[in-house]
Amino acid sequence: MTEPSSYPVMDVYRQREATDLSHYQQQYDESINNSDAFWRQKAQRIEWTKPFTEVENSSFDRDNLHIRWFEDGELNITSNCIDRHLDKHGDNTAFIFEPNNPDDSNRVISYKELYRHVCQMANALKSRGVKKGDVVTLYMPMIPEAIFAMLACARIGAPHSVVFGGFSPEALADRIDNGQSKVVITADEGRRGSKTIPLKDNVDVAIQHCHSTRVDTVIVVANTGAEITWVDGRDVDYTEITDEQAVDCEPVSVNAEDPLFILYTSGSTGKPKGVVHTTGGYSVYNSLAFEEIFDYHRGETYWCTADIGWITGHSYVVYGPLLNGATSVIYEGMPNWPTANRAATIVDKYNVDILYTAPTAIRAMMADGDKSIENCSLSSLRLLGTVGEPINPEAWRWLHSEVGKNNCPIVDTWWQTETGGIMLTPLPGATALKPGSATLPFFGIQPEVLDADGTVLNGPCSGGLCIAKSWPAQARTIFGDHQRFIDTYFSSYDGYYFTSDGCNRDEDGYYWITGRVDDVLNVAGHRMGTAEIESALVAHHAVTEAAVVGKPHAIKGEAIYVYVSLNSDTEASPALEKELKNWVRQEIGAIASPDTIQFANGLPKTRSGKIMRRILRKIASDECDQLGDTSTLADPTVVDQLIEQRQMIK
Ligand code: PRX
Repeated sequence: MTEPSSYPVMDVYRQREATDLSHYQQQYDESINNSDAFWRQKAQRIEWTKPFTEVENSSFDRDNLHIRWFEDGELNITSNCIDRHLDKHGDNTAFIFEPNNPDDSNRVISYKELYRHVCQMANALKSRGVKKGDVVTLYMPMIPEAIFAMLACARIGAPHSVVFGGFSPEALADRIDNGQSKVVITADEGRRGSKTIPLKDNVDVAIQHCHSTRVDTVIVVANTGAEITWVDGRDVDYTEITDEQAVDCEPVSVNAEDPLFILYTSGSTGKPKGVVHTTGGYSVYNSLAFEEIFDYHRGETYWCTADIGWITGHSYVVYGPLLNGATSVIYEGMPNWPTANRAATIVDKYNVDILYTAPTAIRAMMADGDKSIENCSLSSLRLLGTVGEPINPEAWRWLHSEVGKNNCPIVDTWWQTETGGIMLTPLPGATALKPGSATLPFFGIQPEVLDADGTVLNGPCSGGLCIAKSWPAQARTIFGDHQRFIDTYFSSYDGYYFTSDGCNRDEDGYYWITGRVDDVLNVAGHRMGTAEIESALVAHHAVTEAAVVGKPHAIKGEAIYVYVSLNSDTEASPALEKELKNWVRQEIGAIASPDTIQFANGLPKTRSGKIMRRILRKIASDECDQLGDTSTLADPTVVDQLIEQRQMIK
């Protein structure tokens, strides 16, 4: 049987009140043509402590860039996430925590309990001097306390800066310094399958490496109970400091445009950027997006597998679900540990209705074949979602038939750290699906495809994906460097936000993301800057030059392939290769560790000295017959040497 190329709206899918595309189209048109009225009405989803008068005040003109939504309104996002559910739904479950080890007991946290945890944590932060506007850094495993800590910060108007637990002490130090964060919240250790991650030790090292910030408080959750070093006066035990606090904490009313959080992400140049999201627009947008895109109904169980260290964790583990009073599963460990079917057993254990995950996880399950779903019925599922990278149609179909049993729509959601919320997505029950396409824009999103000259293309086309007008959840700036924000996102195309993604648009107006057009890799759904890895490598004494490219990888999407030239007095060796991989791991984190290192005598450069990555990508991918024009190289013989060296390491 040949597979269909498009999947019509499902008859069995009948959650949504009006289930056809014309309903979507009508609302979408309203959101674009009558944007202020649309968002004014949607903003009523949020309880404002001071109502806003003006909806939007924004311009993408690079000389007068400003992005403000609901700018005279005030609110507290945690009152919206927690307090307002308490009266009628306080006993509903907010989170079910599934621990790494299936033999350990799980934890069920009701909205009432969430309230108490968050208030006590917020009071604990206040007792250590944290005030509105102070940045608090979190370096946590996926445990409930990580979420309590994020919400505690938001309760008192202190922006949180969550650093993924897989980043190294060096990377953590940079982020602590950048945010001038005096308080760090961590755990003794994190668990990932059979491994433990020494989070507290890493924090100790990071604090020593901070150049400009004196961390005066480290709050430590005893997660594994491991022995850790303790600095008296600075280090505080989480249970001790929270237990003694009052169980209520008045939420601080903040302006809609006050920062809610900073989250670092990689770009094509320099160090990671601290993307700043503010409170009002982010709340309105994600409250709406979560309900519409996952078609969430109170009482259903939702599981987003993302870590809170990434934007998906912020918007669709924490804020979006809580704003809708949802019940979420959170899981500390790996989807395939201790058995290949762990993720599927969790779905069955909690009767998960909605599963939101990453293509890389799906491909890993697929590689394990039947083992990844054996002895699991998966019959509770009614909706599946993916995010983070393009999903190849083969993985899409496997997800649809093997996990969704041909019964669940798949929402392939395209978005970015900077967009704050989902931008392109099907709406379940309304949009016909095409495997590999993120389909159509969400409400208020006006995508345009531009060619290299900046011409707006019509109809079916390929080009750079831009957004023509602001939306409420959009990032407002890069922390401490507004000019970089303008240069990065608003300078490629005049008057547009440029996503740095390429895309195709088909005859039905569906978008197909083709991937980054800048020097950013997407490794297992994690965004990595090639420049960042290169600068880590050249900081090693043996390395004179490094170039990093992506190489297609069956499960991770892209693998990190590195070309390295060495000092004349250093010999290439397997030991050095290992050392360099460890070096990057130390400088950035395990997620940036190169998969392959190719030692090279020279790199292909133009006469003006620019490295031609296109050629390096082709060599790494063994597509040497497609090198294209090499005549502009300063020394074309370099290419032959590289091809020869590549043959040797294959
Ligand atoms: O290239 C796109 C890819 O991930 C990039 C954004 O990465 P990050 O900021 O880490 O956020 C990931 C989670 C929202 C994008 O520029 N990407 C994300 N979702 C998709 C995707 N590519 C194709 N299809 C998607 N659904």
